[in-house]
Amino acid sequence: MKEIGIGLLGVGWMGEVHSTSYRRVPVHYPECEGRARLVVAADEVEERARAAAEKLGYAEWTTDWRTVIAHPEVEAVSICAPNFMHREMALAAVEAGKHFWGEKPLGALPQDTVEIACAAEAAGVRTIVGLNYRNPPAVQHARRLIADGELGEINHFRMQFVASYSANPRGALSWRFSRELSGHGILSDLGSHAVDLAMFLCGPIVRATATSAILIPNRPKVQMGTGTHFSVVEGDVELRPVENEDWCAALVEFESGLKGTIELSRVIVGAEARYWFEVNGTRGAVAWNFERMNELEHYRDGGSARVLMGPSHPDFARFQPGQGIPMGYDDLKVIEAYRFLQSIADGVQREPGVREIAATARVLDAVARSFESGAWEEVRDL
Ligand SMILES: NC(=O)c1ccc[n+]([C@@H]2O[C@H](COP(=O)([O-])OP(=O)(O)OC[C@H]3O[C@@H](n4cnc5c(N)ncnc54)[C@H](O)[C@@H]3O)[C@@H](O)[C@H]2O)c1
Repeated sequence: MKEIGIGLLGVGWMGEVHSTSYRRVPVHYPECEGRARLVVAADEVEERARAAAEKLGYAEWTTDWRTVIAHPEVEAVSICAPNFMHREMALAAVEAGKHFWGEKPLGALPQDTVEIACAAEAAGVRTIVGLNYRNPPAVQHARRLIADGELGEINHFRMQFVASYSANPRGALSWRFSRELSGHGILSDLGSHAVDLAMFLCGPIVRATATSAILIPNRPKVQMGTGTHFSVVEGDVELRPVENEDWCAALVEFESGLKGTIELSRVIVGAEARYWFEVNGTRGAVAWNFERMNELEHYRDGGSARVLMGPSHPDFARFQPGQGIPMGYDDLKVIEAYRFLQSIADGVQREPGVREIAATARVLDAVARSFESGAWEEVRDL
C-alpha cells in the first residue's frame, strides 16, 4: 500500500467532492494500491480553507495555493479552483513533479488546456480529469453496446447538456459568466463534458459548425468564494454584463462520417440537469439521461426496454448490492479518485487524463471559431 499525500487547490463544490471521494476509495475499491492522506487545503477565502481542515479532514490549511504545491508531504494535488487558475496551478504542479486530478475544462481557453497537456505528458506526471459523465454504469454499458456492434451501423447522434442552474435572471454573476475567469461560457462548462462524452461513445470529432447566444445579458454580481453557481441574489445589487454564451448548438461530424447535434444551455426552464444522448444505429438505439442516471433505454428487435442498472453493469457492484438501488453523482467522482490513486501507485496512466481533455479542447476550439465564422470549422492542432 502506497500512502499518497494530497493537496487541495480550491474548496468550493468540487473541492469538497474530491476530498470526500479520496476518503471513500478504500471502502469501494479496497484493492486500490494508493491510499490518500489529506495534507493541506488552500482557498483564497480563509473561511473556506479553514473549513477544509475542520470539516474535510485536512491536517493543514492555507490561503496561498503555492504553499500546497511546495509542501514536501504533498505528492499529488486536486485542482478545483475556477477555470482561470487551472493553467497556472497545473503548470506549477507539473514543474514540481506533482501528479494532479484536475477539474474540467482544465484551463480557461482550449489553448491553455493543450499547453497543460503537453507539459504534463513531457514531465510524465499522472493525471486524471473530471470528465465524470463517462462513469455512470449505464453510459459504460451504452458504450459497450455501440462498440460491440449491437446497434448496427450508427447513423444518428443527438446530445443535449442543458441545465437550469442559471435560468433565474437573478442568478448570481459568478466567475462562470466572465471571459477572463471562465473562458467560454456553457461551452467550457457543460460543453467540455458533452464533447468528451460524444467522443467516448462514437469516436473522434473532426469538424463542427455552431451558433451561440447570451439569453440573460445582465446579472447581479457576487464576490468570489460566496455561494454556488445555483445561488439567487435578491435585493438592490448592481447588475453587470454576462460576457460569454448561455446557449449553443453545434452540428458535429465524427471521423466515421457520422453527423450529429449537440445543444448546451445553462438557462433553460423545464430541464434541470438534462444531460442526455440518443445514439441510433441500423439495428437498435440507446438513450440516457443523467436525471435518471441508473437507467438506459435500449431499443432492439422493434421494441424498447428500460434497463435498470445492477451488479452486472460496470462499477455498479462497487456501490450498491442489488439492481434498482440508485447510485448518485458523488459515486462518479469516487471512480475518478480510484483511477487517480491507482495510477500514482502503479505508474500506469488511466483515462480520462490530459490527453483526452486536450482532444476535447481542440473540438471546443473549432466550435468557438464557428461561433464567429458561421462556417464549418476543422478540428486542428493548437
Ligand atoms: N466535473 C464536474 O461535474 C464539475 C462540476 C462543477 C464544477 N466543476 C469544475 O470545478 C472547478 C471548480 O468549480 P466549483 O463549482 O467547485 O466552483 P466554486 O466556485 O464552488 O469553488 C471554487 C473555489 O475556488 C476558490 N478560489 C478562487 N481563486 C482561488 C485561488 N487563487 N486560490 C485558491 N482558491 C481559489 C474560490 O474561493 C472557491 O472556494 C471549475 O473548473 C469547474 O468547471 C466540475
